[in-house]
Amino acid sequence: MDRLTSDRAARFTESVIRDMTRQILHYHGNQGLNLAQGFPDFPAPAALKEAACAAIMADHNQYGITWGIPSFRQAIARKVARYTGIVADPETQLTVCCGATEAMIATMMGVLNPSDEVVIFQPFYENYGPDCILSGARPRFVALREPDWSFDRDELAAAFGPRTRAIVINTPNNPTGKVFSRDELSFIAGLCQRWDSLAITDEIYEHLVYEGEHISVATLPGMAERTVTISGLSKTYSVTGWRLGYAVASPAITSAIRKVHDFLTVGAPAPLQAAACTALAFEDSYYTQLLADYRQRRDFTLRLLAGAGFRCYPPAGAYYIMTDISDFGFESDVAMAHYLVKDIGVATVPGSSFYHDEALGRQKIRFCFAKRMETLQRLQGLLSRMATPAKLRRL
Ligand SMILES: Cc1ncc(COP(=O)(O)O)c(C=O)c1O
Repeated sequence: MDRLTSDRAARFTESVIRDMTRQILHYHGNQGLNLAQGFPDFPAPAALKEAACAAIMADHNQYGITWGIPSFRQAIARKVARYTGIVADPETQLTVCCGATEAMIATMMGVLNPSDEVVIFQPFYENYGPDCILSGARPRFVALREPDWSFDRDELAAAFGPRTRAIVINTPNNPTGKVFSRDELSFIAGLCQRWDSLAITDEIYEHLVYEGEHISVATLPGMAERTVTISGLSKTYSVTGWRLGYAVASPAITSAIRKVHDFLTVGAPAPLQAAACTALAFEDSYYTQLLADYRQRRDFTLRLLAGAGFRCYPPAGAYYIMTDISDFGFESDVAMAHYLVKDIGVATVPGSSFYHDEALGRQKIRFCFAKRMETLQRLQGLLSRMATPAKLRRL
């Protein structure tokens, strides 16, 4: 047998981000600092952990309804209405999935046909590329340009056409931290309406906005029927391992997403769905504190990266910092990321992995700051072992 794997699987590589996680463990065991993959190193809220233990002990241990247990869907609908203004019927407009990750691929497979075009901003969260390949769609890339990660409206308008079935929006954005403004989203909404396209919007960092305001595209005039809003519990409640996400869409789109979701995974973990109702009922003060803590981490990390010689693009949202490394003189982002993980003990993500046109990311590196302050202070110590650009110039 000479053909053991599919052509489809050959068209994308393993995740660079998750590979960096493996590399830091390989070189430094638990002594290394993993600022590559986006997960916190601090505990999830105690009330949530207790609710999970209680749910398991109460025997919520069998399959739930495939698109989400009713109490969890009702809790999501209440929370989504309160914080985004989207009104969704939990019976017909909500699909609970195994993370926003599965919500995105189930959506793409549920709404796209092979050869449909999908507009994607680059740099992008790396899953969107393989998601297009798995769903057979053809991506059209439009650049978000530093320093403010704005897009050229003519370039975006030119990417739309009769084959455009959808645009993927991610606000707040990974890896840039961009928070799309109302004006930008209205422009995008206009294009979706003109070309009869869908907006698929990944809003997993919705509560982490340091500058500006989070706006759900679905709340813009004429967009409720043509938007799929994706979010989840991973980032807001520090439970990336629980794998709980959801998609909110019109009943017709929801029934397509639910069918795909059913045959991909059957369902998200039932006891964790039961437990997560606790989180969705947290008071406003929980989100205020979450944001204040992240703002402190962001400001501290920005200062220390700038001190070490990185040129930073301060993020308006999410929990990453994109940096420009050109002052260090490394031939590429991959070379510098390799040096950082092997010699310094810090895992980062090479910028090129966020671009289709890899050259655009060759002098960029992304740091994740979803870490305890003590961890970030350790970063300061580790980076001090590195030659700064000023020192390099004197050599
Ligand atoms: C933009 C974006 N979407 C989705 C995810 C994954 O979310 P989940 O854990 O809910 O699958 C991430 C994780 O880093 C992300 O950055």
